[in-house]
Amino acid sequence: MRRLPPVLLEDGCPRDLLSLVRTILAACKEISFRVGQGELSGVLGSTLDENIQGETQKKLDVLSNQLLKDILLESGYVKAIASEEEDYTVAGEPNAKYIVSFDPLDGSSNIDINSLVGTIFSIMEAPEGSDAADPSIFMQPGRKQVAAGYVLYGPSTMLALTTGKGTRLYTLDKTHGSFLLTQDFVSIPEETQEFAVNMSNQRHWQTPMQNYIADLLAGDTGPRAKNFNMRWIAAMVGDVHRVLSRGGIFTYPTDTKDPKKPNKLRLLYEANPMAFLVEQAGGLAIADGQPIMDIEPDAIHQRVEVILGSKNEVEKCLSYYK
Ligand code: F6P
Ligand code: MN
Repeated sequence: MRRLPPVLLEDGCPRDLLSLVRTILAACKEISFRVGQGELSGVLGSTLDENIQGETQKKLDVLSNQLLKDILLESGYVKAIASEEEDYTVAGEPNAKYIVSFDPLDGSSNIDINSLVGTIFSIMEAPEGSDAADPSIFMQPGRKQVAAGYVLYGPSTMLALTTGKGTRLYTLDKTHGSFLLTQDFVSIPEETQEFAVNMSNQRHWQTPMQNYIADLLAGDTGPRAKNFNMRWIAAMVGDVHRVLSRGGIFTYPTDTKDPKKPNKLRLLYEANPMAFLVEQAGGLAIADGQPIMDIEPDAIHQRVEVILGSKNEVEKCLSYYK
Protein backbone atom coordinates (compact mmCIF):
# COMPACT_ATOMS: atom_id res chain seq x y z
CA MET A 1 0.00 0.00 0.00
CA ARG A 2 1.24 3.48 -0.89
CA ARG A 3 1.36 5.52 2.28
CA LEU A 4 0.04 9.07 1.93
CA PRO A 5 0.72 11.87 4.43
CA PRO A 6 -1.11 11.62 7.77
CA VAL A 7 -3.32 14.62 7.11
CA LEU A 8 -6.89 15.00 6.00
CA LEU A 9 -6.56 15.82 2.30
CA GLU A 10 -9.66 17.95 2.06
CA ASP A 11 -8.63 20.57 -0.49
CA GLY A 12 -10.16 24.00 -0.14
CA CYS A 13 -11.93 23.03 3.08
CA PRO A 14 -12.08 25.91 5.61
CA ARG A 15 -9.55 25.45 8.42
CA ASP A 16 -12.13 25.71 11.16
CA LEU A 17 -14.20 22.96 9.51
CA LEU A 18 -11.14 20.74 9.29
CA SER A 19 -10.41 21.44 12.95
CA LEU A 20 -13.97 20.48 13.79
CA VAL A 21 -13.61 17.18 11.87
CA ARG A 22 -10.35 16.53 13.77
CA THR A 23 -12.19 17.19 17.03
CA ILE A 24 -14.78 14.54 16.13
CA LEU A 25 -11.96 12.14 15.17
CA ALA A 26 -10.30 12.64 18.56
CA ALA A 27 -13.43 11.28 20.24
CA CYS A 28 -13.68 8.49 17.66
CA LYS A 29 -10.12 7.34 18.42
CA GLU A 30 -11.11 6.99 22.06
CA ILE A 31 -14.27 5.08 21.07
CA SER A 32 -12.16 2.88 18.78
CA PHE A 33 -9.89 2.05 21.70
CA ARG A 34 -12.79 1.17 23.99
CA VAL A 35 -14.51 -0.93 21.31
CA GLY A 36 -11.22 -2.71 20.63
CA GLN A 37 -10.76 -3.55 24.32
CA GLY A 38 -14.15 -5.30 24.26
CA GLU A 39 -15.00 -7.12 27.46
CA LEU A 40 -11.79 -5.78 29.03
CA SER A 41 -13.07 -2.19 28.84
CA GLY A 42 -15.99 -3.10 31.12
CA VAL A 43 -18.46 -1.32 28.88
CA LEU A 44 -20.22 -4.19 27.12
CA GLY A 45 -23.91 -4.86 27.82
CA SER A 46 -26.94 -2.65 28.31
CA THR A 47 -27.89 0.15 30.66
CA LEU A 48 -31.30 0.19 32.32
CA ASP A 49 -32.35 3.16 30.15
CA GLU A 50 -34.06 3.64 26.81
CA ASN A 51 -33.39 6.46 24.35
CA ILE A 52 -36.17 8.67 22.98
CA GLN A 53 -36.76 6.14 20.18
CA GLY A 54 -37.61 3.45 22.75
CA GLU A 55 -34.39 1.50 22.13
CA THR A 56 -32.43 0.07 25.06
CA GLN A 57 -29.20 2.02 25.44
CA LYS A 58 -26.00 0.02 25.47
CA LYS A 59 -23.27 1.15 27.86
CA LEU A 60 -21.09 1.93 24.83
CA ASP A 61 -23.89 4.04 23.25
CA VAL A 62 -23.94 6.20 26.35
CA LEU A 63 -20.15 6.40 26.65
CA SER A 64 -19.66 7.22 22.95
CA ASN A 65 -22.35 9.88 23.12
CA GLN A 66 -20.76 11.46 26.19
CA LEU A 67 -17.29 11.51 24.62
CA LEU A 68 -18.55 13.20 21.44
CA LYS A 69 -20.87 15.58 23.24
CA ASP A 70 -18.20 16.78 25.70
CA ILE A 71 -15.47 17.28 23.12
CA LEU A 72 -17.79 19.06 20.66
CA LEU A 73 -19.39 21.38 23.18
CA GLU A 74 -15.99 22.30 24.65
CA SER A 75 -14.34 22.82 21.26
CA GLY A 76 -15.76 26.28 20.61
CA TYR A 77 -16.57 25.31 16.99
CA VAL A 78 -20.07 24.07 17.62
CA LYS A 79 -23.27 26.05 18.14
CA ALA A 80 -25.43 23.00 18.92
CA ILE A 81 -25.52 19.22 18.63
CA ALA A 82 -28.26 16.71 17.84
CA SER A 83 -27.56 13.10 18.77
CA GLU A 84 -29.46 9.84 18.45
CA GLU A 85 -28.91 9.37 22.17
CA GLU A 86 -30.11 12.86 23.25
CA ASP A 87 -33.83 13.60 23.48
CA TYR A 88 -33.31 17.25 22.52
CA THR A 89 -30.65 19.34 20.81
CA VAL A 90 -27.92 20.65 23.14
CA ALA A 91 -26.65 24.23 22.84
CA GLY A 92 -22.92 24.95 22.65
CA GLU A 93 -20.97 28.11 21.83
CA PRO A 94 -23.58 30.83 20.96
CA ASN A 95 -21.41 32.48 18.28
CA ALA A 96 -20.06 29.32 16.68
CA LYS A 97 -20.66 28.63 13.00
CA TYR A 98 -21.36 24.89 12.89
CA ILE A 99 -24.00 22.43 14.06
CA VAL A 100 -23.28 18.70 14.27
CA SER A 101 -25.72 15.76 14.15
CA PHE A 102 -24.39 12.32 15.04
CA ASP A 103 -25.17 8.70 15.74
CA PRO A 104 -22.49 7.99 18.34
CA LEU A 105 -22.54 4.20 17.91
CA ASP A 106 -24.44 2.90 14.93
CA GLY A 107 -25.30 -0.80 14.90
CA SER A 108 -24.99 -1.06 18.65
CA SER A 109 -26.78 -4.45 18.75
CA ASN A 110 -23.50 -5.73 17.28
CA ILE A 111 -21.40 -4.61 20.27
CA ASP A 112 -21.98 -7.69 22.37
CA ILE A 113 -21.17 -10.08 19.51
CA ASN A 114 -17.85 -8.38 18.65
CA SER A 115 -19.11 -7.29 15.27
CA LEU A 116 -19.09 -4.05 13.24
CA VAL A 117 -20.17 -0.74 14.76
CA GLY A 118 -19.36 2.86 13.86
CA THR A 119 -19.92 6.57 14.47
CA ILE A 120 -21.80 8.63 11.85
CA PHE A 121 -21.65 12.45 11.72
CA SER A 122 -23.05 15.32 9.70
CA ILE A 123 -21.95 18.98 9.82
CA MET A 124 -23.93 22.02 8.66
CA GLU A 125 -23.67 25.75 9.21
CA ALA A 126 -26.13 27.31 11.61
CA PRO A 127 -28.32 30.01 10.04
CA GLU A 128 -26.87 33.45 10.70
CA GLY A 129 -28.09 35.13 13.86
CA SER A 130 -29.80 31.94 15.03
CA ASP A 131 -30.25 30.92 18.63
CA ALA A 132 -28.12 27.96 19.77
CA ALA A 133 -31.01 26.66 21.87
CA ASP A 134 -33.48 26.69 18.96
CA PRO A 135 -33.85 23.13 17.54
CA SER A 136 -35.15 24.53 14.24
CA ILE A 137 -31.54 25.35 13.24
CA PHE A 138 -31.31 21.63 12.41
CA MET A 139 -34.31 21.74 10.06
CA GLN A 140 -32.19 22.10 6.92
CA PRO A 141 -32.08 19.64 4.00
CA GLY A 142 -29.04 17.37 3.69
CA ARG A 143 -27.87 19.40 0.65
CA LYS A 144 -26.72 21.98 3.18
CA GLN A 145 -24.20 19.59 4.74
CA VAL A 146 -20.65 20.97 4.56
CA ALA A 147 -19.07 17.71 5.71
CA ALA A 148 -20.21 14.20 6.59
CA GLY A 149 -18.60 10.93 7.42
CA TYR A 150 -18.40 7.83 9.51
CA VAL A 151 -15.74 6.02 11.49
CA LEU A 152 -16.08 2.26 11.22
CA TYR A 153 -14.70 0.23 14.13
CA GLY A 154 -13.84 -2.97 12.27
CA PRO A 155 -10.76 -5.17 12.00
CA SER A 156 -9.21 -1.80 11.15
CA THR A 157 -10.68 1.55 12.12
CA MET A 158 -11.59 3.51 9.00
CA LEU A 159 -12.89 6.98 8.27
CA ALA A 160 -15.04 7.79 5.24
CA LEU A 161 -15.21 11.56 4.76
CA THR A 162 -16.62 14.05 2.32
CA THR A 163 -16.51 17.83 2.33
CA GLY A 164 -18.28 17.97 -1.02
CA LYS A 165 -15.30 17.22 -3.24
CA GLY A 166 -15.50 13.47 -3.52
CA THR A 167 -15.47 10.76 -0.85
CA ARG A 168 -12.19 9.56 0.64
CA LEU A 169 -11.29 6.65 2.90
CA TYR A 170 -8.69 6.89 5.65
CA THR A 171 -7.34 4.11 7.88
CA LEU A 172 -6.36 4.73 11.50
CA ASP A 173 -2.69 3.92 11.98
CA LYS A 174 -2.85 2.80 15.59
CA THR A 175 0.93 3.11 15.96
CA HIS A 176 0.80 6.89 15.34
CA GLY A 177 -2.83 7.63 16.09
CA SER A 178 -3.38 9.30 12.71
CA PHE A 179 -5.93 8.63 9.98
CA LEU A 180 -3.93 8.00 6.78
CA LEU A 181 -5.50 8.41 3.37
CA THR A 182 -5.87 4.92 1.90
CA GLN A 183 -8.35 5.57 -0.91
CA ASP A 184 -8.69 8.81 -2.78
CA PHE A 185 -11.91 9.49 -4.70
CA VAL A 186 -14.06 6.48 -3.99
CA SER A 187 -16.19 5.51 -6.99
CA ILE A 188 -19.16 3.18 -6.51
CA PRO A 189 -19.57 0.87 -9.54
CA GLU A 190 -22.81 1.68 -11.37
CA GLU A 191 -23.70 -1.99 -11.81
CA THR A 192 -23.91 -4.55 -9.03
CA GLN A 193 -25.10 -8.07 -8.21
CA GLU A 194 -25.27 -7.57 -4.45
CA PHE A 195 -28.12 -6.32 -2.26
CA ALA A 196 -28.58 -5.65 1.45
CA VAL A 197 -31.97 -5.70 3.15
CA ASN A 198 -33.42 -7.26 6.30
CA MET A 199 -35.37 -10.06 4.56
CA SER A 200 -37.30 -10.91 7.73
CA ASN A 201 -39.45 -7.82 7.05
CA GLN A 202 -40.35 -8.93 3.54
CA ARG A 203 -44.06 -9.50 4.18
CA HIS A 204 -44.41 -5.97 5.64
CA TRP A 205 -42.94 -4.09 2.64
CA GLN A 206 -44.91 -2.15 0.04
CA THR A 207 -45.71 -4.11 -3.14
CA PRO A 208 -43.05 -2.43 -5.39
CA MET A 209 -40.23 -3.41 -2.99
CA GLN A 210 -41.66 -6.94 -2.65
CA ASN A 211 -41.67 -7.28 -6.45
CA TYR A 212 -38.18 -5.81 -6.86
CA ILE A 213 -36.57 -8.13 -4.28
CA ALA A 214 -38.51 -11.13 -5.64
CA ASP A 215 -36.93 -10.47 -9.05
CA LEU A 216 -33.44 -10.31 -7.49
CA LEU A 217 -34.08 -13.61 -5.71
CA ALA A 218 -35.26 -15.21 -8.96
CA GLY A 219 -31.67 -14.93 -10.21
CA ASP A 220 -30.64 -16.01 -13.68
CA THR A 221 -33.96 -17.73 -14.34
CA GLY A 222 -35.96 -14.56 -13.49
CA PRO A 223 -36.55 -11.24 -15.32
CA ARG A 224 -33.15 -9.84 -14.29
CA ALA A 225 -31.41 -12.85 -15.86
CA LYS A 226 -28.53 -12.75 -13.36
CA ASN A 227 -27.82 -14.07 -9.90
CA PHE A 228 -27.66 -11.71 -6.92
CA ASN A 229 -25.80 -12.14 -3.65
CA MET A 230 -27.17 -10.90 -0.33
CA ARG A 231 -25.39 -9.38 2.71
CA TRP A 232 -26.79 -7.88 5.94
CA ILE A 233 -24.48 -6.60 8.67
CA ALA A 234 -27.25 -5.02 10.79
CA ALA A 235 -25.13 -1.89 11.15
CA MET A 236 -25.81 0.69 8.45
CA VAL A 237 -22.24 1.88 8.78
CA GLY A 238 -20.93 -1.58 7.82
CA ASP A 239 -23.37 -2.08 4.95
CA VAL A 240 -22.67 1.39 3.51
CA HIS A 241 -18.94 0.77 3.84
CA ARG A 242 -19.33 -2.34 1.69
CA VAL A 243 -21.31 -0.34 -0.88
CA LEU A 244 -18.55 2.32 -0.99
CA SER A 245 -15.91 -0.41 -1.23
CA ARG A 246 -17.37 -2.63 -3.96
CA GLY A 247 -20.84 -1.38 -4.88
CA GLY A 248 -24.26 -2.82 -4.10
CA ILE A 249 -27.71 -1.65 -3.16
CA PHE A 250 -28.67 -1.12 0.48
CA THR A 251 -32.22 -0.49 1.57
CA TYR A 252 -34.26 -0.13 4.72
CA PRO A 253 -37.64 0.31 3.01
CA THR A 254 -40.87 1.63 4.45
CA ASP A 255 -42.85 -1.18 6.09
CA THR A 256 -46.07 -1.78 7.99
CA LYS A 257 -44.59 -3.84 10.83
CA ASP A 258 -45.29 -1.13 13.40
CA PRO A 259 -47.78 1.45 12.02
CA LYS A 260 -46.31 4.06 14.37
CA LYS A 261 -42.83 3.52 12.85
CA PRO A 262 -43.06 3.05 9.06
CA ASN A 263 -39.32 3.76 8.70
CA LYS A 264 -36.32 2.71 10.74
CA LEU A 265 -33.38 4.92 9.84
CA ARG A 266 -32.98 8.48 11.03
CA LEU A 267 -32.72 11.34 8.53
CA LEU A 268 -30.38 13.75 10.30
CA TYR A 269 -27.65 11.47 11.59
CA GLU A 270 -27.94 8.31 9.45
CA ALA A 271 -29.61 8.88 6.06
CA ASN A 272 -28.26 12.39 5.27
CA PRO A 273 -24.56 11.82 6.01
CA MET A 274 -24.61 8.45 4.21
CA ALA A 275 -26.43 10.03 1.25
CA PHE A 276 -23.74 12.74 1.01
CA LEU A 277 -20.93 10.13 1.05
CA VAL A 278 -22.73 7.93 -1.51
CA GLU A 279 -23.61 10.78 -3.92
CA GLN A 280 -20.04 12.10 -3.71
CA ALA A 281 -18.87 8.61 -4.73
CA GLY A 282 -21.20 8.58 -7.78
CA GLY A 283 -24.06 6.60 -6.23
CA LEU A 284 -27.69 7.48 -5.50
CA ALA A 285 -29.52 7.80 -2.18
CA ILE A 286 -33.32 7.95 -2.35
CA ALA A 287 -36.31 8.03 0.00
CA ASP A 288 -39.91 7.95 -1.22
CA GLY A 289 -38.82 8.64 -4.79
CA GLN A 290 -36.74 11.75 -4.05
CA PRO A 291 -33.08 12.27 -3.21
CA ILE A 292 -32.65 11.91 0.55
CA MET A 293 -30.68 15.16 0.70
CA ASP A 294 -33.63 17.14 -0.72
CA ILE A 295 -35.93 16.26 2.18
CA GLU A 296 -36.87 19.22 4.38
CA PRO A 297 -36.76 17.81 7.92
CA ASP A 298 -39.45 18.61 10.45
CA ALA A 299 -38.08 16.86 13.55
CA ILE A 300 -34.58 16.00 14.76
CA HIS A 301 -35.32 12.30 15.19
CA GLN A 302 -37.33 12.02 11.95
CA ARG A 303 -37.12 8.63 10.24
CA VAL A 304 -37.02 8.01 6.49
CA GLU A 305 -36.94 5.22 3.98
CA VAL A 306 -33.45 4.58 2.57
CA ILE A 307 -32.55 3.10 -0.83
CA LEU A 308 -28.90 3.78 -1.72
CA GLY A 309 -25.92 2.51 -3.64
CA SER A 310 -24.93 1.65 -7.21
CA LYS A 311 -26.61 4.12 -9.56
CA ASN A 312 -28.13 1.75 -12.12
CA GLU A 313 -29.41 -0.67 -9.50
CA VAL A 314 -31.05 2.07 -7.42
CA GLU A 315 -32.71 3.38 -10.59
CA LYS A 316 -33.87 -0.15 -11.40
CA CYS A 317 -35.40 -0.47 -7.93
CA LEU A 318 -37.18 2.89 -8.32
CA SER A 319 -38.65 1.80 -11.67
CA TYR A 320 -40.81 -0.71 -9.74
CA TYR A 321 -42.58 2.23 -8.04
CA LYS A 322 -43.59 3.86 -11.36
O1 F6P B 1 -29.30 2.37 13.67
C1 F6P B 1 -30.25 1.52 13.20
C2 F6P B 1 -29.65 0.23 12.71
O2 F6P B 1 -28.92 -0.42 13.70
C3 F6P B 1 -28.80 0.36 11.43
O3 F6P B 1 -27.45 0.57 11.72
C4 F6P B 1 -29.03 -0.97 10.75
O4 F6P B 1 -28.92 -0.86 9.35
C5 F6P B 1 -30.43 -1.33 11.17
O5 F6P B 1 -30.73 -0.58 12.33
C6 F6P B 1 -30.56 -2.78 11.48
O6 F6P B 1 -31.88 -3.07 11.59
P1 F6P B 1 -32.43 -4.55 11.91
O7 F6P B 1 -32.29 -4.71 13.38
O8 F6P B 1 -33.84 -4.51 11.46
O9 F6P B 1 -31.59 -5.53 11.16
MN1 MN C 1 -27.75 3.92 14.04
